[in-house]
Amino acid sequence: MTIVVWAGGSLRDPDEAVVSSLDHGLTVGDGIFETMTVRDGRVFAPTRHLARLAYGADRMGLVGVDAEVLRGAIDEVMEAGRGSVTRLRITVTSGPGPMGSARGDGPLTTVVVGIDAARPRMCHAVRAPWRRNERGALTGVKSTSYAENAVMVAYARDKGGDEAIVANTQGHLCEGTATNVFLERAGEIVTPPLASGCLAGITRGLALEWGAMAGLPVRATAPGELTMSVLDEVIAGDAHLAVTSSTRGVQHVSTLDGHDLTPGPLLRKLSAQFELRAEAEPDPGLPRRK
Ligand SMILES: Cc1ncc(COP(=O)(O)O)c(C=O)c1O
Repeated sequence: MTIVVWAGGSLRDPDEAVVSSLDHGLTVGDGIFETMTVRDGRVFAPTRHLARLAYGADRMGLVGVDAEVLRGAIDEVMEAGRGSVTRLRITVTSGPGPMGSARGDGPLTTVVVGIDAARPRMCHAVRAPWRRNERGALTGVKSTSYAENAVMVAYARDKGGDEAIVANTQGHLCEGTATNVFLERAGEIVTPPLASGCLAGITRGLALEWGAMAGLPVRATAPGELTMSVLDEVIAGDAHLAVTSSTRGVQHVSTLDGHDLTPGPLLRKLSAQFELRAEAEPDPGLPRRK
């Protein structure tokens, strides 16, 4: 198994402790992260991931995230991995701090890890009984405060799945724990808007852009257009469901709450288009926020 670790400026032994026991990321989840995939030996969409990291840092008031240093770190990890790294994670926290919620004076903790994890081949989704807060201080931020997602995935696993789909506090369809959701319904492909409280997924954004460029009828809906009841339509076979993420691409959901689902023909086209474009454009330019 490959594990390559870069922390605080250089490559480190994977067994070495690189984070203080008082790190505010460890004690209260005060940090941000990015998960990137590797396609054809290259980290995919680094510009977009680093831009989202910068956005998260800004939202959380973490000062001093240096994109150039991170690009250098990514290169070092990829080189040290000698072709075997398939997934990279950047984690930035506010650094060592007091035990309470108030922060210390830093400096930031920055860790980049490369591993050789396999891409998930299928998605078995489960509806989660909890809600995503679309009005929280961290809504839309890829923060390390992800324990809610850990609980929801554990719930999905208990039910034989590997991803949980959640509504927001208004009962509107929101996202998965590590994915965005797309539906094929009434001859078009739709995904919840960012106002639903979902993360602005890099894959979601590219699927919207590249799908539209290919002439596919794909759009983010107006707030409230998709409630959780659309998932009953999916189970009934009147609509189709896919999830998107850096590690999954645009992936058909095989089962929902244990019910077999059929792939949507338009979603299949979107997935194929995404793969095609991702191969041709490994580092797409910055998105327009939608
Ligand atoms: C909550 C959440 N939604 C959506 C996504 C998909 O985002 P991306 O396409 O950038 O991987 C992720 C990624 O991990 C996530 O954590």
